[in-house]
Amino acid sequence: MNVLFCASEAAPFAASGGLGDVAGSLPRAIRNRKVACRVVMPLYGDMKQEYREKLTYITNFTVPVGWRNQYCGLFELTHNGVKYYFLDNEYYFKRTGLYGFYDDGERFAFFSRAILEMLFHVDFVPDVIHANDWQTALVPVYLNLYYRHLEQYRSIKTVFTIHNIQYQGKYGMEVLEDVVGVPQSSRQILEFDGCVNYMKGGIETADAVTTVSPTYAGEILDPWFSWGLDPILRERSFKLHGILNGIDTVGYDPATDPAVFANYTAETAQEGKAENKRALQERLSLPQRPDVPLIGMVTRLASHKGMDLVKYIADELFTRDVQFVLLGSGEWIYENFFRELQDRYPDRFRYCVGFLPELARKIYAAADIFLMPSKSEPCGLAQMVACRYGAVPVVRETGGLKDSIRDCG
Ligand code: GLC
Repeated sequence: MNVLFCASEAAPFAASGGLGDVAGSLPRAIRNRKVACRVVMPLYGDMKQEYREKLTYITNFTVPVGWRNQYCGLFELTHNGVKYYFLDNEYYFKRTGLYGFYDDGERFAFFSRAILEMLFHVDFVPDVIHANDWQTALVPVYLNLYYRHLEQYRSIKTVFTIHNIQYQGKYGMEVLEDVVGVPQSSRQILEFDGCVNYMKGGIETADAVTTVSPTYAGEILDPWFSWGLDPILRERSFKLHGILNGIDTVGYDPATDPAVFANYTAETAQEGKAENKRALQERLSLPQRPDVPLIGMVTRLASHKGMDLVKYIADELFTRDVQFVLLGSGEWIYENFFRELQDRYPDRFRYCVGFLPELARKIYAAADIFLMPSKSEPCGLAQMVACRYGAVPVVRETGGLKDSIRDCG
């Protein structure tokens, strides 16, 4: 079976969160199950030179974006046995960072349409096109509107996966024709709540909709979790499934991970983790005490990650003899809070700002306890990595946390 996996990010080429991790590891994992999976993603300007050098140029073509036609270059690269296609348009993708631009809606409308145009130029006929999150939610929409009548597109099935329902790709109705390129006569596919909503279009048009854990698949039918989309999902619940993500256990292996201070296996975990803890305490100028429980947390500082809960219990936590290391960046209100908390507990708490994958691995390896009290969590990968590195996860019972962590209480 041929699968084309469409994502706005895939590690190691570009990753800002869990979608990038999954896009980097799932295609490789299913390849071992006799599925020929190829990945397509944008060619971002800040992709590392070491990968850029390995790209092979295939061709270029034009892509309709509303009433315009835009250039699209097509490159390919094989990495870990998986073929990646990169779609190039410097106007859209030669920027610093992946998202957060005023024209994100146009950038990913272009990308989604370009994926379907690309199929005229490659030697790969997918049986399944797998779109992920709002950035590629328009792929099944365009497929049905503009390509279905063509022989090679007729029998393609589509899967749309929701990695996080909070981010839907919502824009004013005025973009419908000029940017998204969908006529008024088909506006009902994308219209929701008076807006153009890319995710809603993906849910409506894909043959199957999945999300990244069985519990989250049930939760998003409820308004508390759905960010407004529960009526749409309830209508389409016949095609909604939850499939739990996994992690790449080769890439995340404390026995071989070059980022940790000392490698260890399950058998040598006691000494190995002790050395990682000592070295992390030294690196972060915390008192080097083997006996104190070290709590780790690696997260985006967003409300749904449970940051308010951490804020709320912080002072109480430090009435106990613990050390706490937090790595992450995000909303300024939390960043400020944790900076101030570090000033108040300089011997107990370190706040490291940023998205720093290597430091994250050092924290997993050093921590005794891993904290992940998300209010909602579609799947969550950090708790799985924590288990792999021998840190005991303490999580809230929601979404993928519920499905991946067994309660020992
Ligand atoms: C998103 C979700 C996270 C999930 C990841 C990969 O980042 O917030 O829970 O693990 O996608 O599916």
